[in-house]
Amino acid sequence: MAKVNDNYLKLPGSYLFSTIGKKVNAFAAANPDKKIIRLGIGDVTQPLAPAIISALHSAVDEMADAATFRGYAPDLGYEFLRNAIAENDYRARGCDIGADEIFVSDGAKCDSGNIQEIFSTDNKIAVCDPVYPVYVDTNVMAGRTGTYQAETETWSDVIYMPCTAETDFAPELPGKTPDLIYLCFPNNPTGSTITRSRLQEWVDYANRVGAVIIYDAAYEAYISQEGVPHSIYECQGARTCAIELHSFSKNAGFTGVRLGYTVVPKDLKVGDVALHGLWARRHGTKYNGAPYIVQRAGEAVYSEEGKAQLQKQVAYYMNNANYILEGLKAAGYTVSGGVNAPYIWLKTPGNMTSWEFFDYLLEQANVVGTPGSGFGPSGEGYFRLTAFGSYENTVEAIDRIRNLSGC
Ligand SMILES: Cc1ncc(COP(=O)(O)O)c(C=O)c1O
Repeated sequence: MAKVNDNYLKLPGSYLFSTIGKKVNAFAAANPDKKIIRLGIGDVTQPLAPAIISALHSAVDEMADAATFRGYAPDLGYEFLRNAIAENDYRARGCDIGADEIFVSDGAKCDSGNIQEIFSTDNKIAVCDPVYPVYVDTNVMAGRTGTYQAETETWSDVIYMPCTAETDFAPELPGKTPDLIYLCFPNNPTGSTITRSRLQEWVDYANRVGAVIIYDAAYEAYISQEGVPHSIYECQGARTCAIELHSFSKNAGFTGVRLGYTVVPKDLKVGDVALHGLWARRHGTKYNGAPYIVQRAGEAVYSEEGKAQLQKQVAYYMNNANYILEGLKAAGYTVSGGVNAPYIWLKTPGNMTSWEFFDYLLEQANVVGTPGSGFGPSGEGYFRLTAFGSYENTVEAIDRIRNLSGC
């Protein structure tokens, strides 16, 4: 008789955004006359840039002609895209990463969930608290996290690194030694960043204890300040301890198009096993590549025209972020993030729990955000708003929040 993977049964409740979706749908059904503004889930709203649309059209035309038709993509992704990535995201920043160390995929969510497969289930993971839930849940599915402790909403075998106001929402080196360390900067959900010198400490630490850092740089395009690293490979020694994940979702609006990549340097070894070979094996066996059309669209992200258009798109969202940040500050909220990231992290007023504030905001202002506690226990009492809405909706949402009484 077939048996299920019991680890799936350990996952508590439904995925955060499903719970939010259900609550919002119920509210909308009961209040059909209310205009709900969604600043919750991190999906983009601006259309694809013209340079990308044009690349998509040409690639579609190529597929219509037997002479230019493409079938399965090469295992690691097309060279034209990997060369563009290596040149623009790495060499231009002084990082020593070759095109043959880049694995093109259909997004960072899959890669961040799948990468744990190449590690033993005995490995101890360390995650920031609060955290992008995918890192923890995929390790639960793999059976790496021990038992769930409902009272603390934590897993017995996971090392949590609290990121609180006291630590500037950045993690401190953990007391217990982990094998795998998940870091994400600029951070989802808190919008915090890490300086190059602080990240260097993590790289030195990982090399010292033999840990591997899984560095999620999905929001790198939003960095506006000097001294904030765009890649972990800006740190010395990162080639021997770090895997880096990238997404085209937030810098180029590919949330529905789907494209990402993962860097596994050839120098990265666990014992004498090179992780590059393991990930190549996994990629080749379980994945048949991002579509040719989409990889051509990804190439256009790095064209001069594409870069200029996308800079404007990022600036559009960051203008929203600034409106949220300043508007909430003016209303007396304690807020952070929103400078190098499209996320604003606010302290809930009047000691409300995160979910109490979610309900309050939905009912009183018809604005949807994300309860901080959904990202981990240290997120309790916090709330995330995103800058990915339209400017008009963002302004209306913040004005509604400012007009609420009693906050
Ligand atoms: C930290 C982080 N990593 C990865 C992703 C997913 O990226 P993708 O759309 O490329 O799967 C997200 C999406 O919200 C994210 O916040």
